[in-house]
Amino acid sequence: MDLKKVKRFIGRASLYAPIMDLETVFLKYLPYVTREERCTWGNFDEKAKGVASCISNWEGILSDLKTGESLLEVGPGNAFIIALAGVEKGAKVTVADRFPVRWNAAFHPKLYAACRRVLPEMRVFDYLLRKEDFSAVFEVLPVAAECVAEHCGAKFDWVTSNAVLEHLQDPVLGLSSLFSVTVPGGRHLHQIDLRYHWLSTSPLDHLICDYEKFSRWRAAFRCEMGCQWRHSEWLHFFETAGFKNVHLVASSEQGKAYLERVRNKLEKSSSKYANWPIEDLRISGGLYACSKPL
Ligand SMILES: C[S@@+](CC[C@H](N)C(=O)[O-])C[C@H]1O[C@@H](n2cnc3c(N)ncnc32)[C@H](O)[C@@H]1O
Repeated sequence: MDLKKVKRFIGRASLYAPIMDLETVFLKYLPYVTREERCTWGNFDEKAKGVASCISNWEGILSDLKTGESLLEVGPGNAFIIALAGVEKGAKVTVADRFPVRWNAAFHPKLYAACRRVLPEMRVFDYLLRKEDFSAVFEVLPVAAECVAEHCGAKFDWVTSNAVLEHLQDPVLGLSSLFSVTVPGGRHLHQIDLRYHWLSTSPLDHLICDYEKFSRWRAAFRCEMGCQWRHSEWLHFFETAGFKNVHLVASSEQGKAYLERVRNKLEKSSSKYANWPIEDLRISGGLYACSKPL
């Protein structure tokens, strides 16, 4: 079965409320391919280019990070992008993921060897390739963001994530947990993608879906398709969790023509986003920065 086709079909199906009840069918019959298997597919030089460019980007974002400071990366996935940028800058790094990825002999040596070719000046790849074990380089916590506070005694100077918070089941719960493992004055940087993940050509069409139905369907698929919450709602979530100076550097915005098309569909729907301000709909992702008050 072609997984891409299945995914695209689920993506389309999700837009239509009557088809939502098919979720149990999908859950039962979707072939299960582990992340360990999936990540070994494809061209490693291409993968490495993307990973290396993200690591460089995060090195720049973390320009104020000082040697010896502590950094938590939430949801590092299989490439550990921010964690590696943090290690390279001399930080004491911890990662927390609800499904942590272990060292995969069929994937990580090839990926990091290719990354080293793209970024030969970075020492962290050599170190990791020698150790062949993430826990020799940073601490790995097998916990979801929502539970970090219960499982982690440490407090961090920096808490970061890349393409993770849109997968939280309950953003205020997750952000409150991350707030409580932050030192006073500690900084948070979270890249959040507000687009629908399963249909890249229609990044906002999922807003037409009834909020309750979408939430049920989202939970059934472990929140993997992203979220409906818009920028103004995220600002509110961060502030409710206790953060101050919340601001966004937007990196993804929707164009006028698409926004008008979505706006027309929304106006005819019973969605909670039917009369949502267009300026808020326009923003579809970026880097949220904030801090815990002193
Ligand atoms: C889209 S991937 C992003 C991976 C990586 N940050 C990157 O940019 O390549 C989302 C990651 O977040 C993790 N994740 C999802 N929900 C989470 C949660 N509630 N707590 C911690 N990690 C979570 C997933 O297991 C996955 O590793």
